[in-house]
Amino acid sequence: MAIVIYPGSFDPLTNGHLSIIQRGLTMFEKLVVAVLNNPRKQAMFTVEERTALIREACPDPRVEVDSFQGLLVHYTRRKGVHLILRGLRAVSDFEYEFQLANMNRKLDPHFDTVFMMTGQDSFYISSQLVREVASWGGDVGGLVPPNVFRALREKFPATNGS
Ligand code: PNS
Repeated sequence: MAIVIYPGSFDPLTNGHLSIIQRGLTMFEKLVVAVLNNPRKQAMFTVEERTALIREACPDPRVEVDSFQGLLVHYTRRKGVHLILRGLRAVSDFEYEFQLANMNRKLDPHFDTVFMMTGQDSFYISSQLVREVASWGGDVGGLVPPNVFRALREKFPATNGS
């Protein structure tokens, strides 16, 4: 069975991530969304909140939502899946992704990365910008799935833009 792991911070899940998941499902029979639980970094949503939001936004039975701590190569080895999927938005993503892919392959020679270009509608969307806009009461409608929009509204009630 063709399985791929889609790792990331997903803090929070955006429509860009959703587009990669949906398109990934046209190529793979199963896709594991692996949420990084990084105790060294302060996240906006807890790993439990992030995984719950992803599960709710991706009810497809071919999508498994999981979390991991530590090195990605240790997680992929435990899962017995050595292929990951990553989205590329722009040239600016390339350098980091190139480093990540090569370091992971250095750590595990069986490891491989498949890159998918994000769609035109989501190339400018990042979790970091969504967090920033939402935290100042800006409208992130259309950038994130409806359940994430509601979760952000609960954390940061919208302002009138002034
Ligand atoms: O969504 P992100 O934050 O760009 O995802 C980055 C992620 C989670 C894929 C990457 O930081 C990662 O794999 N972290 C786990 C720790 C690790 O394996 N680091 C070494 C890779 S060079």
